[in-house]
Amino acid sequence: KAPLNPAVQPLAWLLGTWQSDEPGEGSYPSIQPFRYTETLHISHVGQPVLNFMFSAFHAETKRPLHRECGFIRLQAGTQRVALIVAQNSGLVEIEEGELTGQQLTLQSKDLARISFAKEPYVQQISRVFQLKEDGRLEQTVSMATGSQPLSQHLHITYRRVSP
Ligand code: HEM
Repeated sequence: KAPLNPAVQPLAWLLGTWQSDEPGEGSYPSIQPFRYTETLHISHVGQPVLNFMFSAFHAETKRPLHRECGFIRLQAGTQRVALIVAQNSGLVEIEEGELTGQQLTLQSKDLARISFAKEPYVQQISRVFQLKEDGRLEQTVSMATGSQPLSQHLHITYRRVSP
């Protein structure tokens, strides 16, 4: 296995396979609250970038729901982070933000979607990844759509199940 590229060493705390320890909470002013489980695979091949695949499932029916995959980059010599994401809903996004300790705080910089994506369209996304004291990883996602201001959509914690 290739050694971790030193350029992404500050992101090493994200690596591994993570499984939600308890169901995540989905919400939004315009939808019914829901619960979901999610598996994250965050890996590398020795390049100065991390690769990720997130797969979410309905907590009760286990039906596959949301999926996203992409890359995480750090700007050399800075704490500036970029997340490059494709989602199964037909949305693609660039998020940028800062690495502070073991926390990533990101804001969408660019969003695009397929011509036949379902409405309402997302206009803005902000997300936070944080490694907690107890070793769990937490993700919180807020979004604004054409019909709602920035509001929380997702909150979930994960336990690392393999390196
Ligand atoms: C609804 C976006 C991640 C599950 C929605 C809606 C949008 C959206 C725009 C419609 C809101 C409305 O009707 O006003 C996103 C974005 C995500 C994301 C941008 C990632 C950044 C997830 C994840 C799950 C999920 C991880 C986990 C299962 C749902 C469900 C609904 C929903 C169940 C309500 C039913 C539906 O419209 O399908 N999401 N979502 N979403 N989302 Fe997400």
